[in-house]
Amino acid sequence: MSRANPIRTTQADTSPGMIDLAIGHPSPSLLPLELIREAGSLRLATDFTPYLQYGYEPGDGYFRSALAAFLSRHYGLPVSEGQLFVSGGASQALDLLCTVYAKPGDTVFVEEPTYFLALRIFADHRLTVVSLPTDQGGLVIEALEEQLKSRRPAFLYTVPTHQNPSGATLSAERRRRLMELSREKGFLVFADEVYHLLTYGHAPPPPLAAFDSKGPEGRLLSLGSFSKILAPGLRLGWIQASSPLLRPLTECGMLDSGGGLNPFISAVVRSAIDTGLQDAHLQRLRREYGSRLEAMGSALERWLSGKVEFSSPDGGFFFWLRLADGRDSAGLLPAAKANRTSFVPGSAFSVHKQQRDRLRLSFSYHPPQAILEGVRRLAESLS
Ligand SMILES: Cc1ncc(COP(=O)(O)O)c(C=O)c1O
Repeated sequence: MSRANPIRTTQADTSPGMIDLAIGHPSPSLLPLELIREAGSLRLATDFTPYLQYGYEPGDGYFRSALAAFLSRHYGLPVSEGQLFVSGGASQALDLLCTVYAKPGDTVFVEEPTYFLALRIFADHRLTVVSLPTDQGGLVIEALEEQLKSRRPAFLYTVPTHQNPSGATLSAERRRRLMELSREKGFLVFADEVYHLLTYGHAPPPPLAAFDSKGPEGRLLSLGSFSKILAPGLRLGWIQASSPLLRPLTECGMLDSGGGLNPFISAVVRSAIDTGLQDAHLQRLRREYGSRLEAMGSALERWLSGKVEFSSPDGGFFFWLRLADGRDSAGLLPAAKANRTSFVPGSAFSVHKQQRDRLRLSFSYHPPQAILEGVRRLAESLS
């Protein structure tokens, strides 16, 4: 099929006419060009140039204080500049955390299912991955306790809020118990909280930081990102943790050589935060994604009722379906693609390629009308 433009720029490369429900990226229509133009012009209008220099290792101090104020307001928790490290997005942060906090052969715990591309990063670092079951309330803590009897992981990786792919949110009680266990048993928790601010239904419990030790060190490193709330092309995110836990990051060789990450983009995003543009955009995203979620929920009811089981998420980007007849969803992919739609088969999210009767649909990339049509095409190809 011919592409609109032969020169590629973006990771997702959809053919014309395709409604690809596999893509978990923000939709092109929600990329805030005008906002970036305004925030960028404001920044470039001043003569203050340090952001063109090698950056301070933990990240630009002005940006970190603007980010701390933004997070304190949205998390409803005090977050200080000293608890923040600027990253090039959650993926890069996770890779850096693996470099600093794990060595090849170490055991790490993940959820089953989990964010499939985190598994790629763990494979790059030659880590031994052990998966723990989840249910509607997220990670099953009893299963974690059981595993801890025989193993001690270097870290546990969790997506506690509006999980990718399941949409599940870890309950407050489980958050409390998870952080308690991390202290008792001495393992780190890497919480990938990139969807925390994207809630359209019931509010989730506070971020995991609210449950971490109040002592000087803590066991938690929480990852956030502007990819989902502004634009992935900015490659800007953060790690929130105690300063002793952040120190090995700021002292690592990559930063010693290259300086703090993304000083220029941080300076632009600081303008977006300080002017309220980021807050306004977040409001818009919640409205837009909320209506896309509704569109997908009603399309599933209309076209796939009885054929799939699912529960509606309260936020994030994804629906996690189970095929009622137990078929392997991977086998259905060619028919879906031939019908100009797509999904991610459940096995992609599983360390041992389980979850075969599951599939992930994303409602972030396409507008509501296209979502309805995409689900209709999917239903046609499943029958
Ligand atoms: C759970 C999760 N973590 C991380 C990422 C990637 O984030 P970033 O663009 O900040 O690297 C995604 C994107 O899909 C995600 O779903």
